[in-house]
Amino acid sequence: MTTDPLKVFVTRRLPQPALDRLADQNIILDLWDSDLPPDGDTMLSHSMDIDGILCLLTDRIDAKLIEQSNRLRVISNMAVGTDNIDVKYATERGIPVGNTPNVLTDTTADFAFALLMSAARRIVEADSYVREGQWKTWGPNVLLGHDLHGATLGIIGLGAIGRGVALRAKGFSMNILYTSRSRSTAPDNLNATLVTLEELLTNADFVSVHVPLTDETRNLIGKHEFSLMKQNSVFVNTSRGGVVDQQALIQALKEGKPAMAALDVTTVEPIKMDDELLTLPNLIITPHIASASVTTRTKMANMAVDNLLAGLRGSPLPNCVNLQ
Ligand code: DGY
Repeated sequence: MTTDPLKVFVTRRLPQPALDRLADQNIILDLWDSDLPPDGDTMLSHSMDIDGILCLLTDRIDAKLIEQSNRLRVISNMAVGTDNIDVKYATERGIPVGNTPNVLTDTTADFAFALLMSAARRIVEADSYVREGQWKTWGPNVLLGHDLHGATLGIIGLGAIGRGVALRAKGFSMNILYTSRSRSTAPDNLNATLVTLEELLTNADFVSVHVPLTDETRNLIGKHEFSLMKQNSVFVNTSRGGVVDQQALIQALKEGKPAMAALDVTTVEPIKMDDELLTLPNLIITPHIASASVTTRTKMANMAVDNLLAGLRGSPLPNCVNLQ
């Protein structure tokens, strides 16, 4: 007996190995074959009567979209964060939401550390300095930065990525402080100390944020928190822009506390070209690429396909954030 093919909407061109796997299935594949996301209306029209959706963190999957198909049996997000999805509503409707944890942990931790080092040792600025013809000589006072070794790193949120950053920091002989809402203990080999957020901000030379965006963490770091930071401190965010009050960050950077910020994420993505943040010299900014290695993005896409196919079959998703 043959079954009717199921209808699936994939909201972006994925790494080819993952797309090839979808082509092999008995499904009607509606692929948004582009490197740019569909707009809201396109999302809605393509989600009519679908059985499954494979989406990205740039796609807003709200109650209206979920309601559009009473056949919808799986939402598979190619990301570990699921703040773009109304998970509560999906749960009420009994629809599993899949994500892609673990595979991006080390890649993201590598990148957070790269931002930390770039900010500390002024690498982006030094590159421009050379290209602009300012390199006249070796000078005792030229482009002096700050040492990582011996400095104190504050990690906000000691989940998998936070631990990955701590491990790297240990290799650089940094002292490690961390906060954890679940008060989870750091592995002994990290030699990291659990502190309050206030203690962390007051004592850390470098602060790196690794919490998911939830109702609890939205605007977690604002005016008050920046005011606690040390004079020469560096602030790094590779989690979600919404965890930081961006207006407060602009003001704080103007006042020099932190002295420098390095952001891979912003409140609105992509950031508007007239955003005041982009006028600040003490900012390094990258376009949400912390997990962007060939290997990791391929793994993430394959995990998203695994979740999608399991959901279509009615089987438990290998990685599900709500129902199992
Ligand atoms: C995620 O998976 O949530 C990351 O932000 C992607 O880089």
